[in-house]
Amino acid sequence: MKDSNFIKENNAKHMWHPMGHPADSLANPPTVIASAKDSSITDIDGHTVVDAVGGLWCVNLGYSNDTVKEAISKQLYDLPYYSAFSGTTNPAAIEASQMVRDMFAPDGMARVFFTSGGSDSVETCLRLARQYHVVRGEPSRTKFISLKKGYHGTHFGGASVNGNNRFRINYEPLLPGCYHLPAPYTYRNPFNETDPAKLAQNIAAAFEDEIAFQGANTIAAFIMEPIQGAGGVIVPDASFMGLMRDICDRHGILMISDEVITGFGRTGDWSGARHWGVKPDMMSMAKGITSGYFPVGAALIGDKVAEVFENDTSGNAAIFHGYTYSAHPVGAAAVIATINETLRLDTKVNAAARGAQLFEGVEKLAQKYDIIGNVRGGHGLMTGIELVSDAAKKTPMDMSVMKRVHKAAYDNGAMVRLGANNILMSPPLVITDTEISQILSALDAGFAAA
Ligand SMILES: Cc1ncc(COP(=O)(O)O)c(C=O)c1O
Repeated sequence: MKDSNFIKENNAKHMWHPMGHPADSLANPPTVIASAKDSSITDIDGHTVVDAVGGLWCVNLGYSNDTVKEAISKQLYDLPYYSAFSGTTNPAAIEASQMVRDMFAPDGMARVFFTSGGSDSVETCLRLARQYHVVRGEPSRTKFISLKKGYHGTHFGGASVNGNNRFRINYEPLLPGCYHLPAPYTYRNPFNETDPAKLAQNIAAAFEDEIAFQGANTIAAFIMEPIQGAGGVIVPDASFMGLMRDICDRHGILMISDEVITGFGRTGDWSGARHWGVKPDMMSMAKGITSGYFPVGAALIGDKVAEVFENDTSGNAAIFHGYTYSAHPVGAAAVIATINETLRLDTKVNAAARGAQLFEGVEKLAQKYDIIGNVRGGHGLMTGIELVSDAAKKTPMDMSVMKRVHKAAYDNGAMVRLGANNILMSPPLVITDTEISQILSALDAGFAAA
């Protein structure tokens, strides 16, 4: 590795960063994270902070899990790569697929299709949803319905069902036949409804209305995150996902639960759907599946969908979709070790307890600072804080102030993430209560600097 002068000198000069303006990266080079331990990260200048972002909602086991690191390293020597396109496979992928299937069998999942990340998993679910209807003889079902504020990755299909326009507008036209319902976002919604249960009913009515308008026989699937993550940690009423499930069932629409963030314990349950007592037809997974140590995702296929594909005799169920790195042996070894560690540590229990501590701590900060317009979370280790410059008018806070808060929090011991005028937090699921306290005091310093 080159010395730190070289690294600083070349920062952002040759690389365009995801989710940022290239000119901004050149003018304000990104913080170089050079090492990490447990739930903390250290930058190139030696400043160590608690990582309240968990990498990017993914480092569930923290940064120091040697079991996963050793499994990856051993697999590199045994078999660093082989294709899983039909005709060949590898031992690690076989074992990993059984473990993932078993972990999500209580959600009704029967089969696993490995991918390289969350966007791939979403894309796989969307494509297989259309194909499911072709195989069962109703090819007119091609449309997708989703929620505003949802985030489903950046492939064209996923971006088309995304519900935040900053991920869409410069890439239009997107996939035709994608329609969006209001988000279960009590702080701002077109119904002016602050009661979460009533808002859930309103959105369910809007879903029924949209189905009647489009024609049920044109709709392939409805996709939602059990708790919307990147859109600002928007937690629906406990009734919401079940209401949407019932509507999907009544109209023959598949339900895809996008669990890229909520899968593997983040909500305090192994899946977000289970957290709400719902069984979807498909699930998209990534992130916590390897704790971010290796890029892997998975589309999980429920019993009903699997049966239609596996009992097909027409030939239409052949899956002409997949990735060079689907079922990558090193990724699969990471999955096996990560699931073993996730189950051994029972990370969902700590996620629930520390998530409550973080949420309650932020609610106390909201009493101290008028700029905190809305605090969302309380279901595991996902917390969102929406900042406003005028609480009565709910005016979104300027980005310059958001950046000041972010920097002061970082200087005072915590890395947090900004998403528009929201502060988003999703720390490792193994975080301690002392580290949560450090995040809270760093946030306090951040808000004081606003
Ligand atoms: C719910 C959800 N779906 C899909 C994705 C896309 O995953 P990836 O960035 O791994 O492609 C993300 C990423 O944050 C996500 O939060």
